[in-house]
Amino acid sequence: MRIKASPKRPLTLVNLGCGSRFHHDWVNIDQYPSGDSVIVHDLRKGIPLRDQSCDVVYHSSILEHFEQDSALIFLKECFRVLKPDGVIRVAVPDLERMCRLYLRKLGDSINGETNAEFDYDWMMLELYDQSVREKSGGAMGEYLGQEVIPNLDFVKARIGDEARAIIEFARSGRADSGDQRRKRYSLVRRFVSGMLHPRMTFLRFWKRSLVGAVTTTESILTLLTGEDVHPILRIGRFRMSGEVHKWMYDRFSLARLLVQAGFKNPVRLNEGESRIPKWSSYCLDVLPDGTTAKPDSLYMEATRASNS
Ligand SMILES: C[S@@+](CC[C@H](N)C(=O)[O-])C[C@H]1O[C@@H](n2cnc3c(N)ncnc32)[C@H](O)[C@@H]1O
Repeated sequence: MRIKASPKRPLTLVNLGCGSRFHHDWVNIDQYPSGDSVIVHDLRKGIPLRDQSCDVVYHSSILEHFEQDSALIFLKECFRVLKPDGVIRVAVPDLERMCRLYLRKLGDSINGETNAEFDYDWMMLELYDQSVREKSGGAMGEYLGQEVIPNLDFVKARIGDEARAIIEFARSGRADSGDQRRKRYSLVRRFVSGMLHPRMTFLRFWKRSLVGAVTTTESILTLLTGEDVHPILRIGRFRMSGEVHKWMYDRFSLARLLVQAGFKNPVRLNEGESRIPKWSSYCLDVLPDGTTAKPDSLYMEATRASNS
């Protein structure tokens, strides 16, 4: 059954963790907003909307960033804000397809098929690096930042349009390694050393005190624990920043989790299929040129029953 909108009662559509993929007809929420119309909110603290106030709740590439127990709590929050007969749509990286492709590329590599090992290496990055990395970008960022990516077509087929943006970003660090970086570094250094503000001694004092306080606290902790806490804190801060994958889903485990959260009838769909009216026109899972935004995704919709 499709939900219906009318001129008198437009639908309330919500996009959680929207990143830069959002539509102005929707209520868009993210902890790091990429537009003025995005509501800034940390979804680990719940969804800042009233009970049964939304017709559609959608999120893409979010659920895998929550720990397993937090993911259930988050889906229960989605249930709370949905109206009876409302629709939830979830997109996550598809673990099943990843594993099948990994196994195929493993076999091809063992059998010595030309270039198969590049695809095999990429699948390892998708499966593993996204979960275990300890610095932003991880080994995947390094792979995408290479001068020549040996299996660019395969990578593009896996992560779609995102490949272009990530490759550009990863390469900008390298391209920036000459004069530009020296210039930028020297500006940063001058600012950090207070040279850009020769008269603002209080700023220099404040900055030194702040840096000093953090360093001192960390040094005291190091002394007390007998362990160098600096790398521990750096890694801990990064791992809690929301970049890494904390869990993965397939069509079985995602459907089961949706049911555990209270939803009915979870169904797997493709990127363009939906019970949400005018779905493709919002260009969330389908780009304006008709291609898939995230080819590696699993899409699932479920409903809140009318009597729940
Ligand atoms: C991988 S991006 C996906 C962005 C977009 N949904 C898409 O599919 O292109 C994950 C997004 O979730 C947001 N996010 C992660 N954890 C969050 C949290 N606890 N609260 C709010 N937003 C969060 C991040 O800021 C980021 O924009």
